[in-house]
Amino acid sequence: MERTLVLLKPDCVQRRLIGRVLARFEDKGLNLVAMKLMRVTPELAKRHYAEHVHKAWYPHLEAFITGGPLVAAVVEGPQAVRVVRDMVGATNGLDAAPGSIRGDFGSSQQMNLVHASDGPESAARELAIFFQEDEIHAYRPTIQPWLRAPDED
Ligand code: CDP
Ligand code: MG
Repeated sequence: MERTLVLLKPDCVQRRLIGRVLARFEDKGLNLVAMKLMRVTPELAKRHYAEHVHKAWYPHLEAFITGGPLVAAVVEGPQAVRVVRDMVGATNGLDAAPGSIRGDFGSSQQMNLVHASDGPESAARELAIFFQEDEIHAYRPTIQPWLRAPDED
């Protein structure tokens, strides 16, 4: 079991796509184990995007990500980090494969709707930025026996 951080970015909220994007993760059999609507501050943006802070385009990214409320969520499931990243697709919506979230809904490099952690270390780091441990609520869905065979777990 893995956990990954998903952000439904301000463009996703403004475009009324929260439900449709979350439905994809639910449909896949992944578990939503934490979720909140929040406004990211410039300080939080710099922590989350620490690897990009010194890039020329970072100020534009910060203005975008702090420019409206977003939904932060923790998604759990087998190999969830890679699986969710694949479902989100390539960074630029114009390059993202059809069937991916960015490929189906996006045509921008910056306004690409969804953030997903890019590896297990990033996931652990980013989860701790957005959620306290007591805000995460693990549960076993009653449908679990029909999502994966017993010998796969
Ligand atoms: O989100 P992802 O890991 O696919 O892309 P990234 O290269 O780590 O960049 C983080 C985020 O910065 C992207 O999701 C875009 O929203 C934004 N970005 C941007 O505004 N301008 C760029 N030239 C590249 C990325
Ligand atoms: Mg990245």
